Amino acid sequence: MRLTVFNGSPRGKTSNTKLLMEQFCRGFLDRPDNQVEVAYLNRTKDLEHQVEMFAKAEHVILAFPLYTDAMPGIVKHFIEALEPLRGRPENPSLGFIVQSGFPEPAHSRYVERYLVKLASRLGCAYHGTAVRGGVEGCQMQPGWMTKKLFNGFYLLGKNCPAEKGFDESILKMLAPWEKMPKGRIAFFRLLNKMGPGNFYWDHQLKQNKAFEQRFARPFIEELKD
Ligand SMILES: Cc1cc2nc3c(=O)[nH]c(=O)nc-3n(C[C@H](O)[C@H](O)[C@H](O)COP(=O)(O)O)c2cc1C
Repeated sequence: MRLTVFNGSPRGKTSNTKLLMEQFCRGFLDRPDNQVEVAYLNRTKDLEHQVEMFAKAEHVILAFPLYTDAMPGIVKHFIEALEPLRGRPENPSLGFIVQSGFPEPAHSRYVERYLVKLASRLGCAYHGTAVRGGVEGCQMQPGWMTKKLFNGFYLLGKNCPAEKGFDESILKMLAPWEKMPKGRIAFFRLLNKMGPGNFYWDHQLKQNKAFEQRFARPFIEELKD
């Protein structure tokens, strides 16, 4: 079987999407004779070639991060370029992976509804959408923290493509709850009060030389004048 993966992250080869898809592909390639090809949608000058890859593909996974509760512009641009392939009987089966920074999968369910429609409009067999929250920061986390996450994607790839689409039990493993449980909210509130809850964002602010101004309110100051 041939799998064509489209990575829709603007970060391309340095993206969290790439890390997750590496695990997915590792699972898929566990079966003998399976093959994978990967395209990065941030290489926008390759758009024509990417559409050709889609046209010739057997199974497609389009994976992207949630950006402002929707998809990155490069993904929308790619989808619009697929218009001429609409309704072809030889179109590939199509599955999606949406991963986000916020931990709650509920944020990604709106774009998921669109993706179901998209597969149907293109005339592709819909393979399902795997949603995963809380992915930002996974590049900095030690192995024991990402083990479960990476294993989930490995299993998803190993079971792909299944006749009835993504395995429900694996989807549930990746998104065990829609809204954060109360106990977890209380834990994070406590962590934030104590300090380490801000570690990741403080690190990002320092890297961007913005840490000292983290409480700045420039527009409020302007209003006072
Ligand atoms: C411009 C921008 C917008 C984002 N918007 C959201 C959002 O609306 N909801 C969310 O949960 N995460 C949001 N994120 C976080 C990303 O989804 C998250 O960091 C993801 O893991 C990035 O994946 P990537 O490295 O593959 O691009 C946003 C990140 C950026 C840079």
